[in-house]
Amino acid sequence: MAKFYHITTYGCQMNVHESEKIAGLLSELGYESCTSIEDADIAVFNTCCIRENAENHAFGNIGMLKKLKAQKKNMIIAVGGCLTQQIGKADVLHKKFPYVDIIFGTHNLGRLKDYILKKQSQKKAVIEINDDDGKVYEEVKSLRTSYPNVWINITYGCNNFCTYCIVPYVRGRERSRKSSDIIAEAKELISLGYKEITLLGQNVNSYGNGTEEISFPELLEKIASLEGKFRLRFMTSHPKDFSEALAKVIAENPKICNAVHLPVQSGSDAVLKAMNRRYSSADYLKKVEILKKYVPDCAVTTDLIVGFPNETEEDFKATLSLVEKVGFASAFSFVYSKRDGTVAAKMEGQISEEVSRRRIMELIALVNSQTREQSKKYIGKTVEILCEDYDKKKKMYLGRDEYGRMVYFESDTDLIGEFVNVKIDGANGISLSGKVI
Ligand code: SAH
Ligand code: SF4
Ligand code: F3S
Repeated sequence: MAKFYHITTYGCQMNVHESEKIAGLLSELGYESCTSIEDADIAVFNTCCIRENAENHAFGNIGMLKKLKAQKKNMIIAVGGCLTQQIGKADVLHKKFPYVDIIFGTHNLGRLKDYILKKQSQKKAVIEINDDDGKVYEEVKSLRTSYPNVWINITYGCNNFCTYCIVPYVRGRERSRKSSDIIAEAKELISLGYKEITLLGQNVNSYGNGTEEISFPELLEKIASLEGKFRLRFMTSHPKDFSEALAKVIAENPKICNAVHLPVQSGSDAVLKAMNRRYSSADYLKKVEILKKYVPDCAVTTDLIVGFPNETEEDFKATLSLVEKVGFASAFSFVYSKRDGTVAAKMEGQISEEVSRRRIMELIALVNSQTREQSKKYIGKTVEILCEDYDKKKKMYLGRDEYGRMVYFESDTDLIGEFVNVKIDGANGISLSGKVI
């Protein structure tokens, strides 16, 4: 049987899930998955371009294939994902890596099969980058590899145009899947034994805007009321659209995890305005307050950017101060990366690498100290963990609690896919360890 190999070079959960769709398409074509690229008849790279280092990952990965392709002339190499969708990037890829056979954009995923067949009948590369805004590919079946967790798309694209961000340009306008399709998919996955569902969208709170009859909190409630023991998560929530109704739904439905990823990006009002985030730091704090009013134990996580154009020392201090006020369970901190085609790329006042590096180190130190403090509070407590994997190096099973904390524990029997109670006796920064009771 012909074999396929696929890799997500970088990217968000949406991209990882899209790789599962690519795998689904390839298996429908009769290919079988393999774990070593040397054995593959077709290799598909799913790329990201959110920051410069994401692009570099993709270029590095594809560059390494030159030798292999020279030895295996019949092997098909395909590159898809956000990087290819950036204006002009498909040509850059084609010139730099002439041995790549297929280059397809984010809107072209559903037609990958046709491209493979086309390539098999022609010598020249197949390059397809379209802009099919509004299209939702319902026919793509995923080959899921993340048991007991699953991802379900609820929206595609983004309309927010934060000035630093490339996503609206490479993923197109926001469109929502039909709620009946989403609920049917959730039901099927629960019946197949999956235990944790994460609903995906760049801004889940704007689900249904104008096209669907139900709102995001209503959708959550409908899924949470399906039968069976499972957890429900969602990401990402844009603070400007985070509502009291959503906080209530989280509080009222035990299957919805008490964990919300609410990216703030900056604590400075001037920077937030320049980023086009459409909320102030006070608005953000108010949203967190509403959330905690209904869900006092809710773990709030976030994304932060330092070094946005014209960010002053005061602006940066405002970010530190907001982080101190909120007390995030964890946070991803990024150095601003200039993306061609975005509004911020044309702004004067780009911040030097040296300044950005100092700021990010300081920010990470603060975030880590908060995470460590919160971890310590777990000691002696018993938490319910969904066991999701086995770490061969540590010889321990691992899983997460509803707040998203990673917990390691030993077991003689295979616990993957089971809910287990673990008494925490160790806290090591972000992860915890304990004993099954
Ligand atoms: N839709 C989500 C985020 C998607 S991108 C939201 O709005 O929250 C994930 C994170 O990458 C963002 O939250 C942001 O912190 C970061 N990011 C996006 N573009 C970036 C850029 N040009 N430079 C640095 N970080 C960036
Ligand atoms: Fe990017 Fe902003 Fe859209 Fe998130 S909401 S994907 S940060 S433009
Ligand atoms: Fe990257 Fe595209 Fe996601 S740019 S972060 S893979 S939407």
